[in-house]
Amino acid sequence: MAIALVPLLATLVESSEEVNHHMLQCLHATAMRHFTPMSDIMVASDNTWFSEKHGTVVKKSAQITMPYLETDFWKELLQDLHETEIWSLSLHLQNKSGKKEVLPRKHGNYIIISPYHDHEAVVTDISHQIKKLSNSWDWNPRAKFAVLLQRIHMQENSTQQLAADIFADLWLSRVVNAVVMVPTPNKHSNAMGTAPALQMYTWFPYQPPGHCADVRDAVLLDQWVVDSKGNGKFHYNIPLFPNKIPTNFHGCPVTVSVFEFEPSVMKESSASTTFDEGTGIRLLHEIVRKGNMSAVYLEPSHAEHWGLPYGNGSWSGGLGQVIGGQADLLAAYSYYRCHIINEIECSIPYFIDQIRWYIPCAMPYPRWMSLTRVFSPSLWLSFLAVYIVFALLMWQAVTVSNRFSLQSTNNHAYTSLIKCLFNFWAVILEQSISNNPPRIAAIRVVLLVWVLFCMSMNTVYQTYLTSFLVDPGLQHQLSSADEVFNSGMEFGFPFRWKPFLTDLSGDRYRHTHNCKSFRECLNRTSFTHNFAFMGSAIATDYMIAAEFTSSDGKPLVCSFDQIFTIQLALMTVTKGFIFLDYLNRIVSQLMDAGVIEHWSDNIKFTAILASATEMDLLAGEYTQLTLLHIQSAFYFLFLGYTVATIAFLLELTRYVKQLVCTPKRK
Ligand SMILES: *[C@@H]1O[C@H](CO)[C@@H](O)[C@H](O)[C@H]1NC(C)=O
Ligand SMILES: *[C@@H]1O[C@H](CO)[C@@H](O)[C@H](O)[C@H]1NC(C)=O
Ligand SMILES: *[C@@H]1O[C@H](CO)[C@@H](O)[C@H](O)[C@H]1NC(C)=O
Ligand SMILES: *[C@@H]1O[C@H](CO)[C@@H](O)[C@H](O)[C@H]1NC(C)=O
Ligand SMILES: *[C@@H]1O[C@H](CO)[C@@H](O)[C@H](O)[C@H]1NC(C)=O
Repeated sequence: MAIALVPLLATLVESSEEVNHHMLQCLHATAMRHFTPMSDIMVASDNTWFSEKHGTVVKKSAQITMPYLETDFWKELLQDLHETEIWSLSLHLQNKSGKKEVLPRKHGNYIIISPYHDHEAVVTDISHQIKKLSNSWDWNPRAKFAVLLQRIHMQENSTQQLAADIFADLWLSRVVNAVVMVPTPNKHSNAMGTAPALQMYTWFPYQPPGHCADVRDAVLLDQWVVDSKGNGKFHYNIPLFPNKIPTNFHGCPVTVSVFEFEPSVMKESSASTTFDEGTGIRLLHEIVRKGNMSAVYLEPSHAEHWGLPYGNGSWSGGLGQVIGGQADLLAAYSYYRCHIINEIECSIPYFIDQIRWYIPCAMPYPRWMSLTRVFSPSLWLSFLAVYIVFALLMWQAVTVSNRFSLQSTNNHAYTSLIKCLFNFWAVILEQSISNNPPRIAAIRVVLLVWVLFCMSMNTVYQTYLTSFLVDPGLQHQLSSADEVFNSGMEFGFPFRWKPFLTDLSGDRYRHTHNCKSFRECLNRTSFTHNFAFMGSAIATDYMIAAEFTSSDGKPLVCSFDQIFTIQLALMTVTKGFIFLDYLNRIVSQLMDAGVIEHWSDNIKFTAILASATEMDLLAGEYTQLTLLHIQSAFYFLFLGYTVATIAFLLELTRYVKQLVCTPKRK
């Protein structure tokens, strides 16, 4: 019976219609069994097809003769997938690259169909289609790829080679989860009465252990077999999309783009030849150790470390290496930019960075002002007013009492305003005044009140004077962004932020004086004391702790609480980086355990300790008074002496003039 069926089967399989039928069945079964329900399926093929179908522009130059049934194949395939109502279908028709959809949704599955026959033509066609697909925002190299070749390929070993070449090409776009389905010319049915109709190939990039994704061997995974009635099924029925990403890479390399970026990537000491310290480097070491990989460091050749777009689609710097695929990831933490740059992927964030203002720290008041700063100007003024009022009062009291008094007083210390002022001045300075004031109650009360008032003012003044001499205090510190704008101070930020932080393109930020790096910004602020900038809290706080502290341990650059914006700091990897899921798991475990936080604190603390060796910290809160502290007293002393000398000289000249004039008059 089985033998009698063979010729019949052979004729069946041979016809193109039959092959198409098997392919449809096989695709349907593959989708039902292996594609995740509710996901997207992207169906892609060469453009010329659809042109033909729609009767528009036909590209005959491609030199394919369309089998009469091919349009039906398409119709049936789409109809079939559509009627299941399990997936949403997309069709890749035009090469509209760069079109950004409002809500890009990553495709879950791809069906790629190549109508070509020739080995090279098939490979270039699929390479072309992948390139077009990967330009769009919903491109997902981690999806499941079913690649269907429509033509029968005669020799089995060349089929295998063809599949391997296709995999090598897919790997350039980091596609691993792919199955190549090839119709087979083998018409002999086996003992079970079935004949293979399609071969399904796949590859395993990291098997056997020690092979590092350069294996070009395609392996036959399963077959689609048809029985005598034309019903097909999988021969082995094994998963077509097994997990191909090992957790142990057996020393396979991961290329890392590194450049100095404190505190994420740096050298432990100036003698180090490689970057061996920093949160990013420690995280990298941990990932490499867990995955048993080996890290290959790649330094961007360009001066611009992070990289900027050239405008022709490629980038410079570290980002250029990741986008171009030379490097798998950036060692330094970077901000979330996966919504702007299509060619990269982001790990989960492991830091939350704050962008905030950094301003010059408030300067201390000059010490010579200590003597006057104890009282506010209004208090000084009222003191002066009270002084004059009391002197007037005393003078009037004495004048009035003298007028009505019968016996003349022998004390003439208060008989004129000038005398009153002088005597009261002496009281202020706690000097003695003339004895025996007039024995009149009113006068004595005025005097007593003045003496008591001066005593209390003096006590208060002297008490505060000491603390002002020791620590003159700080001038006003800028404490909000508005104050920075209104202060007339120059301000800026590292200029490579401009394209990324869209908030910075506002009108307020038109006249910025941007710097190359945080270090340059910091240097400008701490040297000129007249520059404010916006900086990343992680990087700037570290640099302040490590380099920009004064000799007594105080930061040279300050900030205030206002936060400009918040950024997610994470690892940027190349699109389709196959280790990303595992990397995310490692990062989240390290975060849960608080390890990353600990590293960050530890690195900062080490930097503080290192810079503290150059500080001369004071032993306690008690300080020895030096000439520096008392300088204001000396200034006033010299001022007094100068005034006294001038007064003396003036008097002397007047006396000399009198001496000269008197004999003439005689
Ligand atoms: C598709 O892209 C190719 C080159 O990339 C171009 O020659 C062709 O005109 C494009 N087709 C359409 C329909 O835009
Ligand atoms: C395919 O196999 C045949 C014989 O088994 C051999 O002669 C031929 O070179 C092989 N072709 C390739 C591309 O390996
Ligand atoms: C890591 O890879 C090396 C090289 O293949 C291997 O010798 C070693 O046993 C692996 N380590 C672990 C823990 O698997
Ligand atoms: C883009 O431009 C840069 C420099 O102008 C050049 O080095 C690079 O090769 C260009 N890339 C492409 C894809 O044209
Ligand atoms: C910091 O600024 C000073 C003065 O402007 C300059 O001499 C010095 O080289 C700068 N240092 C750095 C690291 O830029």
